[in-house]
This record gives sequence, C-alpha cells and structure tokens, in this order.
Amino acid sequence: MLFIKSQIANKIEQIVKSINPQSQLSSEEIKNLLEYPPDPGMGDLSFPCFKLSRELRRSPVQIAQQLSQMLSDVPCVGSAEAVNGYLNLKLSDAFLKDYVIESIFEKKDQYGAPDIGKGKTVVLDYSSPNVAKPFHIGHLGTTVIGHSLKKVHEFAGYKCVGINYLGDWGTQFGKLIVAYKKWGDRETIKAGGVDELVKLYVRINNEISKEEESGSSELAAMARQEFHKMELQDEENISLWKWFVQISLDEYQKTYKQLDITFDSYKGESFYTDKMPAQVEKLREKGLLKIDNGASIVDLSAYDMPPCLILKSDGSTLYPTRDIAAAVYRKNEYAFDKAIYVTAASQCLHFQQWFKVVELMGYPWYGELVHVPYGTVSINGAKLATRTGNVILLRDLFAAAIEKVNEIIEEKNPNLPNRAETAEAIGVGAIVFYYLSNSRMKDINFQMEDALSFDGNTGPYVQYTYARTCTLLEKAGKIPGNSGTVTDESESTLLKVLSRFEEKVLATLSDYEPYYITRYILEVATAFNRFYHNCAILSAEDKNVRDFRIRLTAAVNQVLSNAFPLICLRKTEKV
Ligand code: ARG
Repeated sequence: MLFIKSQIANKIEQIVKSINPQSQLSSEEIKNLLEYPPDPGMGDLSFPCFKLSRELRRSPVQIAQQLSQMLSDVPCVGSAEAVNGYLNLKLSDAFLKDYVIESIFEKKDQYGAPDIGKGKTVVLDYSSPNVAKPFHIGHLGTTVIGHSLKKVHEFAGYKCVGINYLGDWGTQFGKLIVAYKKWGDRETIKAGGVDELVKLYVRINNEISKEEESGSSELAAMARQEFHKMELQDEENISLWKWFVQISLDEYQKTYKQLDITFDSYKGESFYTDKMPAQVEKLREKGLLKIDNGASIVDLSAYDMPPCLILKSDGSTLYPTRDIAAAVYRKNEYAFDKAIYVTAASQCLHFQQWFKVVELMGYPWYGELVHVPYGTVSINGAKLATRTGNVILLRDLFAAAIEKVNEIIEEKNPNLPNRAETAEAIGVGAIVFYYLSNSRMKDINFQMEDALSFDGNTGPYVQYTYARTCTLLEKAGKIPGNSGTVTDESESTLLKVLSRFEEKVLATLSDYEPYYITRYILEVATAFNRFYHNCAILSAEDKNVRDFRIRLTAAVNQVLSNAFPLICLRKTEKV
C-alpha cells in the first residue's frame, strides 16, 4: 500500500502546487495524512482536506470536491468521492490485482521487507534467564518478543546479534553451593538436571527465611562466603558453578529448540566481571560517583530518579554496573546502531537509570539504547513465585499444548506424515501466538485453558489456513501466469490486505510491537478463508478466473510464509 499511497500523494501534491505554487506541503506529508477509513464502506483510503485549507485558502469541502474530480487519471484510483471535507478513495481492482500479486511474485521471500536496515547493526538482549532457576512462563515474554523483534529487524535488512545475557553470576550461586555441599548429590543432579538444582535452591531459600525469622543468619553468611570464594576463583567453587551453568543451559536449549531460537552470544553477567573496574574508574574520573552510607552511587535527583547504585559498601558490583560494562563492550565489539533490551516492565527504572548514567559518562551512543518492556504475567490472578510453586514451566506448558494437538491429530488425521514434528510446531505455535496477540504492555493473567484453546483467532487456525493454501497449490500443479480479473469482492479485500504487509512491518519496527504481525496474519487468514468460501478456486469454470485465483492463493501462501517466522511460528504444510 505504500507505493499506492505515494502515487496518490504525488498527484495531490501536483494538484496543490498547480493551484498554489507557494505551497510547502510535501508529497511525504500528504502520504502520512492518508488514512484507512474505519468503515470500509467509505472507501479504501481517505484524505482529510483540512490541512490543505490554509495552503489553498479554500474550504475543505471545496478542496475535497475539486480533488475528487482530478484524481481519476491516477492508475490505482478506482473512484473518488468528496464527503464533508474528506476525499474518499476506492482503489482500482484491476490495478490492485496486477500490482499486488506481481510485486509478491517479484519480491518473493522479500515481499513486505522494508529496505531500511542495510549496513546497520542491531544488538538484541533477550531471554537472559537467571541460571539455575526454572524457565517458566515469566520468561516467555522476553524470549518471544525479543526473538520476534530480531526476526523483524533481520527481515528489514539489519544485521542482528542476539545475545542471551545469562544471569550467571551473583550471590544465588553462593546459596546453591552451600545447598549442594550440605544436601546435594552429584548423581541425583546428573540424572535430574535443572529440576534438582531448583529443589536445592528452593530449599536453601526456605532455610534462610526460617533462620531469619529466628534471628540467625548463619546460612546467609555461608552463602556470601561461598560466593566470595567464587570471586576469588576458588577452583572447587568455580567448577561447581560451571557445572550448574551447563546443566541449566542444556535445559534451556531444549526450549529454544522448540521455538527455533538460536543466540549469537551467550556471554552472561559473569563475563563482565573484569570489565567493570574500568567503567567504575571512568565514573570516578568524571566526578559522577558519590559515597552514600559507604556505597558508591550516581546521584540522579536532577532527573527525578533515585540514585543508580554502582558499588555496594563492601565494594561488590551491582546489576547496573554490569549493564554499563556490557553496553560498552558490545558497542566496541559490534559497533551497533541500536541496542535493544527486552525485559519485564518491573525493570523500567533500572534501564532509565543506567541509560542516563551512560549519557552522563559522555558516551555519545547513549541514545541508541532502547528498553522494550512488557507487562506482568500472573497465574489465575496470583503473582508468579517459584518458592510457593505458583509457576508454570515453559517445558510443561509446551508439552501440554503438544499433547493436545496430538490428541486432535489422533482423532482427525492419524496417518499424518511428520506427525511429531507437526504436533510440536502447532502446539508451541499456539502458545506463542496466544502470547503475541496483544500489545506487549498488557498484563497477562495466564489461563491454561485460554492458551490451549484452539478455536477462533488462534495459532492453529492460521497454521491450518497456511496448510490449506499448500494443499490447494499442490493440487493446482504449476502456478499460472498473470491473467483474469477480480470478480468477487472477497478477492478485492484480500488483495488490499496483502498490500499492507510492509506497513505492518514498519510499524512493528517503530513501536517494537510484534503483535502487529500476529494481528496481520489473522487478517490475511480471515480474508483468505472468506475468499475460499465465496469463490470456487480449482473448480472455477472459466480458465482465466481459475488461473487468477490460483495465483492469488500462491500470493497468500507467500505472504504467510514471510510473516510466520517473524513471530516465531513454524509453517505446517499439512495438518
Ligand atoms: N537476568 C535478568 C532477569 O532475569 C534479565 C537480564 C536483562 N538484560 C539486561 N541486560 N539487564 O531479570
């Protein structure tokens, strides 16, 4: 639709200039004024003439009238009508048919891809779980929003670096080491993997809480001591720590594999241990550090923020310190044009604070740092909490979804080839689709039944639609060349939906909202299914009509093919 909008905007600009040569209104501005009317009965595009009123010293009503008479020679315009200062346009079906379908065939897997990222690098920090803790639905957001944003940037030509900034350093490892030394057993952990680590972690936390209640802090002190030994590179503790990290990673990899996610770097927090002192020094040199109760902080009161904590009173570093060191490292390593961080909204202040500190430190690239937050996830209204067991592990969630798909396949199509693979693609896809269906800031009250509901606007529905196009095309054989005309309104609607793909991708890039793509996929699927029900495709009597409909189906297949991976959805050719 962007090309169509430009065509119309160029013509309007011409007309405006012919009436008032002094007009400053550019074709680009006009293009941005073109809107989609809320009611499609009013037209496919609408141009409000109020802004022109000043330029042309006429009433909007008059301008709309005049424009409506002068736009008929623009090839994409089917008809133009003036209504109360608005110019309402209907697009030409003949133009849409040739232009949209042929663009799709010409650009193929690049159709919809805006050409804006070439030569630019984006670093995306996402998923980034805290090691030795379970990977649960609280991590779904950062993982799928982050990966989707990576895919969309790649689609737009950016070079992308996906970083899993593992939370692999900190006092939690001291706790785990104490727990392991007290209660752990190597063989049990080997067999049970991360679950056993989680058990130890939960147990030590419970014990520490109990101790606190009775006024003692022996275990907590032991944990600090063990972590301190880690910091001093104590051999035994470092090797335990490496082992714990590896066990956790092995587990995470299974989930990433189900989602088709790979990372370019797994450099976690531990990697930055020796990179922090230089930044702390720089802060000190710049006179930004203040001592507050023994701790070193950057005062941000001038920016209406609480201070950013850099060093604790015992000299140990903190989360912001590591993030600053990591950002500097990444800038040097990847020369990014943009660095995106996807985390829960509860970390908003943390990012605002350290972004500000980076600015105060004089790094000119502070403006390239982008925090992309998302809303909270609760289960049946209650906060997620590992300790009380109010969590749903991603592994279990995916397994439940896959099992449900398997049951349906068993009932409807037991001889389906690639059954296991298909069930996984649809099951996991259903969860991802559910998650990415709403604006990222919307809080989610996770209900297993909703996530596993396959009726209506769901992942399985769009997968099924994609498979339907595949089956049709397989039956059709060779895709015919350009022929025929639009004869049904559902064809025209479908063409218009297909034409909007690139705009959706651009909007996703500017708002960091993968759900635009999710909703778009639904729009395509719905428009295609309407067409499918309204129109005979393979059985159309007229050969030209049949050929055109097959070509249109192939175009839909291409657009869905391009869009699915943008939201981590695998394609299933047969269901
Ligand atoms: N490990 C953190 C957590 O689980 C998220 C890390 C986000 N990335 C960052 N650069 N701070 O809360």
